[in-house]
Order: sequence, then C-alpha cells, then structure tokens
Amino acid sequence: MGTMDQDILRVLYTQEEIAARIKVLGEEMYADLREKDPLFISVLRGAFIFMADIVRSCPVKSDVEFIAVSSYGNAMSSSGAVQITRDIQQDITGRHLVVIEDILDSGNTLSYLKQYFLAKGAAEVSICTLLDKPSRRTKAIQANYTGFTVPDEFVVGYGLDYCQKYRNLPYIGVLKPEVYGGE
Ligand code: PRP
Repeated sequence: MGTMDQDILRVLYTQEEIAARIKVLGEEMYADLREKDPLFISVLRGAFIFMADIVRSCPVKSDVEFIAVSSYGNAMSSSGAVQITRDIQQDITGRHLVVIEDILDSGNTLSYLKQYFLAKGAAEVSICTLLDKPSRRTKAIQANYTGFTVPDEFVVGYGLDYCQKYRNLPYIGVLKPEVYGGE
C-alpha cells in the first residue's frame, strides 16, 4: 500500500511553517475580534485540523460550530451546487461569524455559505482560509484572513484530502500526479 509520504511530490509547507503562520494569523484575528464575541464555524471535513489550531492561536472569548457541505464529492472540481449535509445547531441572529476553511478554490462553497449565514441573520460574516487558490476563482469572494496563497496544484495534508485520504499528514504537500491519474 505504501506510505503517505511516498505519494507526495514535494512539501509545500512544513508543519513548522504552518504553525508559525497560524500564530501570526491568530494574533491578527485577535486584534480584530476581541470585542466581537465571534462564532467560529468550521466547514467539514477539510477544515477540522485548521479549526483546532486557529481557535487556539486566537484566544478570544468565542464559541465554535460545525457545518458540513457537499459540493465536490470525490470529483476533482466543484460542481457548483452546494448542499448542506449537516447544519449549525444554534441561532446566529446578530452574531459575528468567522467561517474557517482549509481552502478557497472556485469560491462556490464560501459564497454560498456567506449568503446562507447572512440570510439567517448573521450581523457579519468574515472568512478565514488556510489556503487560497485565486487562479481558480469563479465567484467574486475574498477571504479576510489567508494563511498562504498557493498555485493551482493538487495539494493534500493538514485536513486536505484526495479521496478522503491524506488529511492526517501534518504538512501540506503536492500529490504525485500518478496517484490521481493526472499528468
Ligand atoms: C473543499 C474545501 C472547501 C471547498 C473549496 O471541500 O474544504 O470546502 O472544497 O472549494 P470551492 O472554493 O471550489 O468551493 P471538499 O468538497 O473537497 O470537501 P472536504 O472539506 O470534505 O474535503
């Protein structure tokens, strides 16, 4: 079966580089959010690892929520139709939300969720994404907080998957094309 490491072409960000960036990002968010009683909402599944780290590096009094959406399935790119498969469990009227994502790609997921939360009465919706792939964007949406801007390559690790695997790699790497049948 081989190891996960053997399927990685190159490491984009090491565990240490990710931790250092999240420390800085958390401080920046803390400065903006400390008076806002924010609600952090993680988008499952990819963001679960980033969520755990970013909320600890932003020590503001806050609560956490989880929402699950399906758009990609096991496909390589988003179909455009976003479905909520597990909704948040509380009233968000008047709240300042910070949506935590692992990657902002076409923007389908986050533009849908932003509208959804505003329609439910959120006062403000900020976006924090670990990775941004602006070259793939088809929706006009930007993150308020971005960890790293990445080229259009197949990245896995630190929450990001290929066919549900590699999420538990502690670093972010580029997957070897032969693993996913690419060139
Ligand atoms: C990924 C990622 C984002 C979305 C970004 O999720 O976690 O939610 O795609 O892409 P977009 O900007 O083109 O909408 P995926 O559907 O792969 O599910 P996962 O979080 O379970 O990995």
